Amino acid sequence: MSIAERVRITESSSRDGLQSLGAFVPTEAKSGLINDLAAAGIRDFDAVSFVSPKWVPQMADGAEVVAGVVATDITLSALVPNAEGLERALAAGVTSIGVLTAASDTFNERNINATVDESMHRIRRILMETPGGVSVRGYVSTATHCPYEGEQDPDWVAHLAETLMEWGVDSVHLGETIGKATPLHIERLLDEVVKLVPIEKVGVHFHDSYGQAIANTVVALEWGVDKMDSSAGGLGGCPFAPGAAGNVATEDLLWLLDGFGIEHGIDARRVAKVAQRFCSEHNLVYNSKAGRALLATEEEE
Ligand code: HMG
Ligand code: MG
Repeated sequence: MSIAERVRITESSSRDGLQSLGAFVPTEAKSGLINDLAAAGIRDFDAVSFVSPKWVPQMADGAEVVAGVVATDITLSALVPNAEGLERALAAGVTSIGVLTAASDTFNERNINATVDESMHRIRRILMETPGGVSVRGYVSTATHCPYEGEQDPDWVAHLAETLMEWGVDSVHLGETIGKATPLHIERLLDEVVKLVPIEKVGVHFHDSYGQAIANTVVALEWGVDKMDSSAGGLGGCPFAPGAAGNVATEDLLWLLDGFGIEHGIDARRVAKVAQRFCSEHNLVYNSKAGRALLATEEEE
């Protein structure tokens, strides 16, 4: 296993970062966030979700958010939980989708009103209806811990990941939904996953509730993972996962990657500026340590 020379970051702030917020963030602010982060060099966005607006009102304006993105040379991905979501995503013109299941039934039922088995059937249907040319990311949430059922079995997660690959997703993303995992959990998980899925098809999506996301990222890097989700300013959380804090902050991840000499093509300071401004405009806590430090030392450098 060798550490990747380049990591592909998928920016989740406009989707995962905002989906749990009660106060509605105006559509143009969501599109503006994507535009500004694209100007900082981010190319891949987990931009919106096409889920039920009754379940997640904050994401009701996905099509309008996509329409408001003027940045070019970027990929906008949309999370879709069912065929209706796929239809809306395609109508909005995205060229990448995310499909989702979880390791645990209880979380999955609370999140998407389906057991794991039922959601796998939904995914199969989505995959059959997805036109060629649209790339698909398959998420397995609660990959180490479920907020309701506790620790999850790595064998089971690996089996789900393998099944998604067999059904045609382009990559499988291990969702550490509630941020409880420590490096040993990630070690055990990847140890099983790589027996069934090539590491170059594996991505990680770490939440940072317990401050472990960067440590967990180091483990993922050591295993050769080169696809990572993060969220500017550490925004994020899942409305159906109590205790889930934000994703690993993009700025913190960039600082780590720079330390390893891994390419990413993104200007961390610019991301920090964009995210801090966004947070202050929308009364959100700016939650990147590296970002705060970069902004505080701006005058000196
Ligand atoms: P349901 O109530 O079982 O859906 O919800 P249904 O098929 O019975 O339909 C009920 C109504 O919802 C109907 O409308 C449908 O048209 C509508 P009505 O006839 O009552 O007016 N509906 C939709 N509307 C718009 N878009 C759709 C859609 N589907 C149905 N796609 C459903 C099932 C999956 C829709 C629901 O549970 C849902 O939307 N859940 C949202 C889940 C969500 O967004 N969770 C957060 C994202 S997951 C996450 O954050 C984890 C991740 O970050 C990785 C990690 O951290 O681990 C990815
Ligand atoms: Mg998430």
